[in-house]
Amino acid sequence: MPDRDPESVSAADIHARIDTSKPHSARFWNYFVGGKDYYEVDRELGDQIKAIFPGLVDVARTSRHFLGRAVRHLAGEQGVRQFLDIGTGLPTGDNTHEVAQQTAPDTRIVYVDNDPLVLAHARALLTSTPEGRTAYVDADMYDPDTILEAASATLDLSRPVALMILNTLGHVADYDVARSMITRLMAGLPSGSYLTICDGTATSDGMIAASEAYNKSDAVPYYVRTVQDITGFFDGLDLVAPGVVPVTDWRPDPTAPRPATPVDAYGGVGRKP
Ligand SMILES: C[S@@+](CC[C@H](N)C(=O)[O-])C[C@H]1O[C@@H](n2cnc3c(N)ncnc32)[C@H](O)[C@@H]1O
Repeated sequence: MPDRDPESVSAADIHARIDTSKPHSARFWNYFVGGKDYYEVDRELGDQIKAIFPGLVDVARTSRHFLGRAVRHLAGEQGVRQFLDIGTGLPTGDNTHEVAQQTAPDTRIVYVDNDPLVLAHARALLTSTPEGRTAYVDADMYDPDTILEAASATLDLSRPVALMILNTLGHVADYDVARSMITRLMAGLPSGSYLTICDGTATSDGMIAASEAYNKSDAVPYYVRTVQDITGFFDGLDLVAPGVVPVTDWRPDPTAPRPATPVDAYGGVGRKP
């Protein structure tokens, strides 16, 4: 099995894997959420997409806010103490472990991504409260068994885990493949575990045009799905109220500003019975 622990991979090996000649999803998304960890090629594509559909900025930022509210709800009201965050992306403000450990310092978090720049930044992610633990696994989401095995070094998979997959499943072109990955991951987690998903949706001409333009670039394509498809990822789970809704409508913070128009991103949280 390849070494998936960022502490044991040399910086030179990681940097040899970073390709600055084509846009990468993690870096492109970092540009949209207002980060600083992207290259010229990512910014160029980002500016092209912003010109086609400025609303993608709201999708990116409100999806991060959804992540924060979902993690706070899971660690707080639902009492979850273990998180598995697949398709982590580059660290920004309010990463999963920071939000969870603010609520419950003893929470354990495993991050998973396959992007070498995310791996390079993993040491920044790997801060933790003394009571909790944070780990990073360099792995491909198409390999759920490897992810579960690697996660089990940090998480107790006989106890509930909150699986988080945000703005990542659109990379999986085939809906049935995406569903089977979720099914396999949830099968490895016990009753009382949770699934949180949010993703861009084909709910406006602008969002569809943005996805088409992105997919003409050299980046790994991203397919926007219907709301029905996003809801279907939760089959067999009990949806936490208010169900699968625009991310801005999921347990909104009444004091936080919200975009004037609906965002093309839906999300929800489901509990394994
Ligand atoms: C659009 S970003 C979303 C980042 C973060 N979850 C968020 O919502 O802000 C998608 C992430 O999925 C990761 N990703 C794409 N394909 C992947 C794969 N096959 N295995 C693991 N991670 C993958 C990318 O590297 C990137 O970090």
